[in-house]
Amino acid sequence: MFDQETVWEFNMTDRVKFGSGASRELSAEAKQIGAETVLFVTDEGVVGAGIVDYLADRFGSKQVIVYDDVEPDPNIGLFEDALEFAAQVDPDLIIGVGGGSCIDVAKTTSVVIEHEGELIDYVAPPTGGGEPIRRSGVPMVAIPTTAGTGSETSPVSVISLPSKNLKVGISSQFQYPDLAVIDPELTVTLPSGPTAASGMDALCHAIEAYTTRGFGSKARPEDPAMRPDYGGRTTVTDAFALKAIELVSGNLRQAVNVGEDLDARRNMSLASFLAGVAFTNAGLGATHALALSAAGEYGTGHGVTIATLLPEVMRFNAGAAADRYADVYERLASTEESLPADPAEGAIREVTALADDIGIPEGLSDLGVESEYLTSLAEGTMQLERLLVGNPRRLSVEDAKAILTDAY
Ligand SMILES: [Fe+2]
Repeated sequence: MFDQETVWEFNMTDRVKFGSGASRELSAEAKQIGAETVLFVTDEGVVGAGIVDYLADRFGSKQVIVYDDVEPDPNIGLFEDALEFAAQVDPDLIIGVGGGSCIDVAKTTSVVIEHEGELIDYVAPPTGGGEPIRRSGVPMVAIPTTAGTGSETSPVSVISLPSKNLKVGISSQFQYPDLAVIDPELTVTLPSGPTAASGMDALCHAIEAYTTRGFGSKARPEDPAMRPDYGGRTTVTDAFALKAIELVSGNLRQAVNVGEDLDARRNMSLASFLAGVAFTNAGLGATHALALSAAGEYGTGHGVTIATLLPEVMRFNAGAAADRYADVYERLASTEESLPADPAEGAIREVTALADDIGIPEGLSDLGVESEYLTSLAEGTMQLERLLVGNPRRLSVEDAKAILTDAY
């Protein structure tokens, strides 16, 4: 007999500081935990924008060391390099500052440094050893400089394995940052392209979290410890997701067009955070499965890939979650129009218009994906069951191919 799940859990980063100037309180945080050696994990772009100097200047006599070799879609070699660097520094505090990649590398470094063995031992099977992370590591602070990935609120890091054209993850409750410092002032220098791409990623997190299957449609695990990270949507994740959609709808165009508009930036940082909390608890859907497959093969940027696929996935799912898409439409609609006859189609229209307005490329072909590889991308998508399991409509490999073709 199907034993229906009746319990949900809700997890997020232990502490959050949000708002203009929040990052100026960083040295007080370091003082509180008695940190003497602070390691920043970041990339050259963040250093070039002056953000690391701005933060490091406040640490006075403490020893501040910067690791700035993180690259987009970091591969396993880079994670190992950061770990080796950190082991030599032996920090009391690790601060990940930047986009999702920098925060992911910082998170994993902070826990694996306190464990025996190799990094691959902690990657999920069948690729890795599947060893559990057993304890928290060096205190870690996540400081996003983009608004979209939600990495500052998630227990997951994504690792590329170039030899296998694969992205794998390490997920553990001990990988939640001890503190997320979300300071919208740090996002004002982000150029319009990455602002647009990361904003569409946040929107997709919120829409997929709101339309993913509910926790009560899942089977109760025999062992409560085996309850999946992506447990299904709940009333709590719904509230976070809907607010995030409303904020993206009202602010992303302005954040892209007038980067120094701090109100728009603040609302996008908030949207990204809320959407991150929603999806890391509820789960995602087919858009992320398709996009991760394309990124594994082609290295297409995450946000733009998501943005080109999202309308087609919504069209595929529409009939299976009509009421949910009607709510999405209401949060997205730019006018006071009454609900259209087909609200899902209305929601798709709004997403497409937003993407057009902020200069997102129209299709996968514009991202350099070759049409003869759509079949292999569809097959790769089917491997990402942890994402597909929440999609409101079951997806076959033919469906995946049809969506990729429509989004081409
Ligand atoms: Fe995403």
